[in-house]
Amino acid sequence: MLVLLAFLLLSYGAGDVQCATVHANITDILSLLHFKKVTNDPTQALKSWNRSTHYCNWNGVMCDPSYPGRVVGLLLGGQRLSGQITLSLGNITFLQYLNLSHNGFSGQLPSLNQFHELVLLDLHSNSLRGMIIPDSLVNCSNLRVLDLSKNMLEGPIPAEIGSLYSLRAVDFSYNNLNGVIPPTFSNATQLLLLSAQENQLVGSIPGELGKLSNMLTLGFGGNSLSGPIPPPIFNLTSLQVLDGYFNMLEMELPLDIGDTLPKLQSLTLGGSMLKGPIPASLGNASGLQVIDLGHNSFVGEIPDFGKLLNLTQLILESNKLEIRNGQSWESFYGLTNCRSLEMLLLGNNQLQGAIPDLIGNFSTEFAHLQLNGNDLSGIVPPSLGNLGGLIDLSLSNNSLFGSIEGWVTSLKNLQSLDLEGNSFVGSIPPSFGNLSKLTLLSLAKNEFEGPIHPILGELTRLSSMDLSYNNLQGEIPPEISGLKELRMLNLSSNKLTGEIPNDLSQCQSLATIQMDHNNLTGHIPTSFGDLMSLTTLSLSHNDLSGTVPASLQPLSKLDLSYNQLQGVIPTKGVFGNASAVSLGGNSGLCGGVPELHMPSCPAASQRNKIRYYLIRVLIPIFGFMSLILLVYFLLLERKMSRRTYESHAPLGEHFPKVSYNDLVEATWNFSDANLIGKGSYGTVYKGKLVQNKMEVAVKVFDLEMRGAERSFMSECEALRSIQHRNLLSIITACSTVDSNGNPFRALIYDFMPKGNLDMWLHHKGDEKNKGDDNAHKNLTLTQRISIAVNIADALDYLHNDSENPIIHCDVKPSNILLDDDMVAHLGDFGIARVFLDSRPRPAGSTSSIGQIPDVIDVHLKEECKEFAEASVVSEDPVHQCLVSLLQVALSCTRPLPNERANMRETASKIQAIKASYIERKEKKNISL
Ligand SMILES: *[C@@H]1O[C@H](CO)[C@@H](O)[C@H](O)[C@H]1NC(C)=O
Ligand SMILES: *[C@@H]1O[C@H](CO)[C@@H](O)[C@H](O)[C@H]1NC(C)=O
Ligand SMILES: *[C@@H]1O[C@H](CO)[C@@H](O)[C@H](O)[C@H]1NC(C)=O
Ligand SMILES: *[C@@H]1O[C@H](CO)[C@@H](O)[C@H](O)[C@H]1NC(C)=O
Ligand SMILES: *[C@@H]1O[C@H](CO)[C@@H](O)[C@H](O)[C@H]1NC(C)=O
Ligand SMILES: *[C@@H]1O[C@H](CO)[C@@H](O)[C@H](O)[C@H]1NC(C)=O
Repeated sequence: MLVLLAFLLLSYGAGDVQCATVHANITDILSLLHFKKVTNDPTQALKSWNRSTHYCNWNGVMCDPSYPGRVVGLLLGGQRLSGQITLSLGNITFLQYLNLSHNGFSGQLPSLNQFHELVLLDLHSNSLRGMIIPDSLVNCSNLRVLDLSKNMLEGPIPAEIGSLYSLRAVDFSYNNLNGVIPPTFSNATQLLLLSAQENQLVGSIPGELGKLSNMLTLGFGGNSLSGPIPPPIFNLTSLQVLDGYFNMLEMELPLDIGDTLPKLQSLTLGGSMLKGPIPASLGNASGLQVIDLGHNSFVGEIPDFGKLLNLTQLILESNKLEIRNGQSWESFYGLTNCRSLEMLLLGNNQLQGAIPDLIGNFSTEFAHLQLNGNDLSGIVPPSLGNLGGLIDLSLSNNSLFGSIEGWVTSLKNLQSLDLEGNSFVGSIPPSFGNLSKLTLLSLAKNEFEGPIHPILGELTRLSSMDLSYNNLQGEIPPEISGLKELRMLNLSSNKLTGEIPNDLSQCQSLATIQMDHNNLTGHIPTSFGDLMSLTTLSLSHNDLSGTVPASLQPLSKLDLSYNQLQGVIPTKGVFGNASAVSLGGNSGLCGGVPELHMPSCPAASQRNKIRYYLIRVLIPIFGFMSLILLVYFLLLERKMSRRTYESHAPLGEHFPKVSYNDLVEATWNFSDANLIGKGSYGTVYKGKLVQNKMEVAVKVFDLEMRGAERSFMSECEALRSIQHRNLLSIITACSTVDSNGNPFRALIYDFMPKGNLDMWLHHKGDEKNKGDDNAHKNLTLTQRISIAVNIADALDYLHNDSENPIIHCDVKPSNILLDDDMVAHLGDFGIARVFLDSRPRPAGSTSSIGQIPDVIDVHLKEECKEFAEASVVSEDPVHQCLVSLLQVALSCTRPLPNERANMRETASKIQAIKASYIERKEKKNISL
């Protein structure tokens, strides 16, 4: 991109723009106003586009004294504009510079037939789709810069591109283009930059490109190109950048490459099928800054790069390069000349011998050193400690030995330290506390001994700590609980003793804990269940006693085998999956699901169980129900303003086409008899599509209403990529004109025969629907919990599993729809936002205890009472129940986000509650 900008600024004096106020061209004004009209402009970038200002002074509009009063440029990069790029711009006959990069424009790439004068077209970083239509380009014979990178364009690069003789720079990178690189590029003889990285191009690189003798930058990395790079390319003497990483290029590099391409600054051919030696002539291309030949099959020695004074990155990892014992480390002497060297990656080669002492003479800029996976031996030279700028050091999987204390602790900028798989000895020194920037630490598979120093608990940025397979002794220091960012903790196969610190549950990011093969004693902390991210826990081969905490159910992998655990094995979650849980070698365990083949348990006390369920199950159930009701009541005053129901809808080819007439037919011409709801943006009708006899709900947007179009777009946008069984499913969208030629927007959903939750909770429509059994029944507690689970699942999906997190912004009973089986579906995405854009909610001043009797549905209160009376816990069960209820609800409405449970936790809690509740109910029915 910088290169393109440079082209623009160097070649054209875009700065000296003047405006001739006397001349005004009405066509230009109309075209601009049309552009403004059809473009979404959330940040009001086009605010100055009004009649009180001369259009030559409008933001982004450029006029030129050579064509008095005529618009020659539209420079609106990075203004958050979106919508389709209107063809009306083609009516601005003198338009030369069009820059709409870094916006959200979507739809097809516009045809450029009318843009005869265009010199620069920069549309990079938008969401344009579709093919580059060959004919659309041919008229742009003045085009010099064409940047379409970072869009979603597909199909081949049209061969016609070669007829754009003025072309200097073309950038197609980061799209989904396929097909071959057209050889016709060679007709655009003035081309300086050709970039097509990160597409799906195939075939070989055309030798014709070798005719483009002015070429500076040639980029085709990240495609599926095969064959050799044709020899003429290596004759492009002015070439500065040759970028072909991640392809399937199979060849040996020409031995004189450094002499034929003397201006090379960047050579990136990593991740291909290159073989043979690395040409020593590369060391002559003195401008080289980046050499990436990693992940190929190069053999032989590393040439001397000592003349490359500007070299910053030398990446040769994962080849078959050799340094024999005691020999050929000379190339390292040369590298000490490279005072800009920042990165040296030589991992996974065949380097032998000791790391030379002169490594300490490398540049102070030196930041990344990887020598892992070689055959290095001896001690690490203490001079390595001079490299105070090191950020990333990997020496893993070699045969290095000795102590690390002398050099490691002066590397104060280290973020990643990997010493795994060597024979380092000694203890973990207290001076490790110096390495306060570490995020990744692996000392695994060495011979470290002594205790785990508590100072490690001060490395608060650590996200991964692997100390496994050493001889570490003593207790796990409770200070480790200070590692709030830690995701992976591996202490397995040491000689650790004592208890697992209960405080470990404060490391809320932990996903994996491995402490197997130690001598740990005591209980498994129940608080592990509070680690919301935890998926894998391995504690096998220790001396742990006590019971298996049911709080471990949400894990996906659990190994507790070979301990002294006792008691009943839980049956839910991970315990229900015999392939994910290991419990063998614990003589005191019993029960569990049959697949575990554990001995059955003696009968347990029924009374304790009831108590357990009352405390663990009932209170949270009511808690969540009250939350829903609370939210509902809090929204009561807004109720009248939003009562539509809607859902998710992409506009894509795989959705059936429905015409305006189809909808007229389906809804009996939108008759009142079919009307089932009205909201601020439109009206919802029941209907039956004639083609497939499907019952549907049709939401017709009232486009007179301000924001209705936006609401339609918002729903389509939010729901483009989401699909979940608890989200109201869209059948299709209809964007057309009605019989009078006015714009018409509608969304078509599955019809939900049981209406919305609002009706059920408040018996709305009782009068209207007399005889309809929907309206007369009350929801049972089981149904209510199911609905809560459905909606929690849907929200969890929106927040955590959809492509981009989506905030619904309008969850309330009237937006929760019920199908025939009373399964709940969340609808109405009219104000949903990928980034929160909701108006402020009534908050804080909301709930006081005096709200209780009004909040709780009278029918729910009955059930609540019934259950509470069976309890042995409370003296005043109704009061107790209601207070607990409100407490849980309030805890979910805490103002600070980090105090609130997130949707994933809430969803899994409610699911567990539902499961337990149903089990409990079944048991009760049996015992009655
Ligand atoms: C404005 O531009 C149009 C289209 O190029 C042209 O036909 C017309 O003569 C111009 N009007 C003036 C006043 O320059
Ligand atoms: C652009 O010009 C075409 C015909 O040349 C005309 O039909 C169209 O309305 C014009 N659009 C605008 C926005 O001026
Ligand atoms: C462009 O180049 C191709 C070969 O690369 C050639 O056949 C063709 O005639 C050239 N001219 C045009 C106008 O495409
Ligand atoms: C490269 O250029 C030289 C000198 O111009 C020429 O002799 C040689 O044939 C060219 N090689 C290729 C492969 O085009
Ligand atoms: C190295 O970089 C400097 C500064 O960017 C530049 O002036 C110099 O010409 C470069 N050296 C070579 C040999 O390209
Ligand atoms: C650790 O356990 C092993 C095997 O159970 C045992 O041989 C060893 O003595 C124990 N070590 C300590 C320090 O308790």
